[in-house]
Amino acid sequence: MAQQDKAKIGLIGLGTMGSALALNIAEKGFPIAVWNRRSDATRTFHAEAGDLAERVIPTESYEELVAAIEKPRAIILMVPAGAPVDEQIAALRPLLDADDMIIDAGNANFHDTNRRVRELDDVSFLGIGVSGGEAGARHGPAIMGGGEKELWDRVSPILEAISAKFKGEPCAAWMGREGAGHFVKAVHNGIEYADMQMIAEVYGVMRDGLGMKADAIGDAFARFNEGALQSYLIEISSIVTKAADKHTGEPMIDLILDKAGQKGTGRWTAIEAQHLAAPIPAIEAAVVARNLSSRVAARREGEELFGAAPMQIPESTVSDEMLERALIAGKVLCYAQGFDMIAAASEQFGWALPLPEIAKVWREGCIIRSAMLDDMAAALAEDEDRNLMLAPVFARYLREGHVALRELVALGARYGHPMPALSSGLSYFDTMRTARGTANMIQAQRDYFGEHGFERIDGIEDEHGPWHGHGV
Ligand code: 6PG
Repeated sequence: MAQQDKAKIGLIGLGTMGSALALNIAEKGFPIAVWNRRSDATRTFHAEAGDLAERVIPTESYEELVAAIEKPRAIILMVPAGAPVDEQIAALRPLLDADDMIIDAGNANFHDTNRRVRELDDVSFLGIGVSGGEAGARHGPAIMGGGEKELWDRVSPILEAISAKFKGEPCAAWMGREGAGHFVKAVHNGIEYADMQMIAEVYGVMRDGLGMKADAIGDAFARFNEGALQSYLIEISSIVTKAADKHTGEPMIDLILDKAGQKGTGRWTAIEAQHLAAPIPAIEAAVVARNLSSRVAARREGEELFGAAPMQIPESTVSDEMLERALIAGKVLCYAQGFDMIAAASEQFGWALPLPEIAKVWREGCIIRSAMLDDMAAALAEDEDRNLMLAPVFARYLREGHVALRELVALGARYGHPMPALSSGLSYFDTMRTARGTANMIQAQRDYFGEHGFERIDGIEDEHGPWHGHGV
């Protein structure tokens, strides 16, 4: 095969995401060689590629795949995170040259990506976070790149071409060295969890507190989507609440078991936040809420024993506007936490993560895309070190919204509606606007029992209390 007939790039793994990404790449004019563990899937994919089939080179062995790609080669892995990635790397390594590149585009744990970047000395490795689900992969995902910048620059023309565009700007950028791309993707997913959980909590108030039917709830979300909350997640929340089940004609949402799945990215974010001592309580609460949701049997027993928690809320105490404002405040707070964590990692890992660029990449294509992200990009460009909740535009949302959030959380407490994410968002807000908190008590206790010492507020140099020496 002549060099000009070769593929510009290769792809391994023709599952839902891999197939969509491969078609996207072919559609943007880049010939692509594909390989799948099951050759029949490769043949079916090629046969069903329609007009794009002429830019797809189906291959049935690693050797064939490698031979089909232009040098220096780039091969995308779109396989489940973890061991399958290491298996593919092990199979490819002996066939590749030092300047060839393996690109892991799955939802890898960034620690694995760090390890792979360090371990692989005979081949280049790039870890990229891809967001947007199947439709995003097919028509334009958000792409967060991590690894050596020269490697990113080599493939960025392809990745930018296939990415989503915000007002013509590609939503694909290099985030930093090693696992930086996968780290940013994990935080994206953490924010995704918190955003989804807050929406679910407001849904619960409408369903159980106000007794609204699914269709009416869908209408409320559709209204929210016309204002500051305009986002993909609010839009799909409206769609899924309004959809009817094809078997029964009932609202589909009412027939779905209340047990949330998770593949792990949100959990990784929560774990990493603890390592970084980065406060992301709303994101952690959202992970906990998913874990709790899976305790179905225990929750049923609890309801039998104590009676169902969510009671009706007097209609006069809740308005559409209040729910919307509370959600706006909650949303700002969970993004503020996510960016704060990114800033902490940037410093700790020496990555110099480009915060405004991250907000820009998230403006289109990804699951958390929302109208607010453009303002976030601008606020971060103005001052990267400032917590987003302190930036004027978001401080205004919070000034307007925290009262609604407070009222909603208070109603939740009074009428038994669990609101783990919204209430921890509120606590975060209140903590972050309390100059004199209560950790002096923690410090006094620590000093009493462990002589740990403390800082004084009055400049006197004495780091122990009068109880010094009396601790047990
Ligand atoms: C995205 C999504 C995507 C996927 C997650 C969901 O950005 O496109 O986040 O990566 O839907 O794996 O994760 P859970 O299964 O943990 O909800």
